[in-house]
Amino acid sequence: MRSPNFKTVPLGGAGSLPAEQMAEARARTLELIEPIAVHDLERVHSRLMSPLVWDLGHIAAFEDLWICHRLGGLEPLRPDLMDVYDAFESPRASRGELPFLRHREAVAYLGAVRERALGVLAREDASFVGSMVLEHEHQHNETMLQTMQLADTGTVAPPRPARTQMALERRQRMVRVAAGTFEMGDDGAGFAYDNERPRHTVDVPAFEIDRLPVSNGDYLEFVEDGGYERRELWSRGGWVWRSEARVTRPLYWTAGGGERRFERIEAIDRNMPAMHVSWFEADAFARWADKRLPTEAEWEKAAAGTPVEPGACNIDQLTYGPLPVGAFPRGASAYGVLGMIGDAWEWTASEFAGYPGFRAHPYREYSEAFFDAGYKVLRGGSWATRPSVARATFRNWDFPQRRQIFCGFRCARDA
Ligand code: AVJ
Ligand code: FE
Repeated sequence: MRSPNFKTVPLGGAGSLPAEQMAEARARTLELIEPIAVHDLERVHSRLMSPLVWDLGHIAAFEDLWICHRLGGLEPLRPDLMDVYDAFESPRASRGELPFLRHREAVAYLGAVRERALGVLAREDASFVGSMVLEHEHQHNETMLQTMQLADTGTVAPPRPARTQMALERRQRMVRVAAGTFEMGDDGAGFAYDNERPRHTVDVPAFEIDRLPVSNGDYLEFVEDGGYERRELWSRGGWVWRSEARVTRPLYWTAGGGERRFERIEAIDRNMPAMHVSWFEADAFARWADKRLPTEAEWEKAAAGTPVEPGACNIDQLTYGPLPVGAFPRGASAYGVLGMIGDAWEWTASEFAGYPGFRAHPYREYSEAFFDAGYKVLRGGSWATRPSVARATFRNWDFPQRRQIFCGFRCARDA
């Protein structure tokens, strides 16, 4: 079992990127795939995701492109592979057919690129690009875990720690956040993606936000109250989606009242956060509860001051699943809101778009190509998010019908 190690939190800054952080990231990447059969690493488990070995080669190609090529001026190690591993040239749905490197070659490619990259890092200042490359690997670790969770039962049986009894802050209530301005976005002290910038002042009207994420118990009430059958609770797009996809429950709930995580199916635990629901389902639940989803500005304002440290949140792939809502009283934000960071990404009401004054930098296709294209923003990170990515300004996004991410939600309302 992994032990908490949040040492990777302070990234960037002056000087070159510590090679140890890159070594630590790589050790995790390899540890994640270690128990998986080669055949399962090389095949497609879901058309939403890449074969796991594609992620490996892509991590290497990205490092080669940004550190060795752009920063160090070297020719790519494998120019022939740059398109295969370009996320834009080769979308996920077609990745199964690509001439991607198989297991052994992909691992060798990772190692060969790393050796060159360390050479470049020894002579160039990589505080920004190096952090980006590191966070990129961290993010793909979470993507790989999504693939592993989607794979058929039996493909992956991750090591899990024994659950200890916890004192829970279970009573749901709402926290009021008074009207007023706050500074939204990254403060510029460390690495951040372009979509988190520029920091800008946002005037947020008074609102209330759930103190806890919506739990399985809360969600069961919605289901049992006919939530999936009541047209008036759903957005127009949501009703179409739910009808065509014939959705009647969250992605990993079973007809028999269980919830699957990797190889294990257990009775639905009412204390756990409701997870793997689409934005459409979260939106319908909120309407049922006479609430709405928070905007990302409301979410970020309410998350101010949330500590990201061991004992305050569940991140970093230590548990292979969420912990009960309210498990970390120490993780409260300045407004007393719990569980903002970790366990499950939270859907927000907001469309993914650029902040006023946005400038693409340096990886043009990272954010800009996805702005104003129907993606909804998720915030806060999940149990599978590595510490470098678990920050209150980080913006994740996906289509409103998607459920494979480690996502959940909480509700808000005008005050
Ligand atoms: C921020 C998770 C939406 O996986 O599409 C990884 C992250 N971008 N490599 C994605 C990303 C390029 C991105 N998300
Ligand atoms: Fe990527």
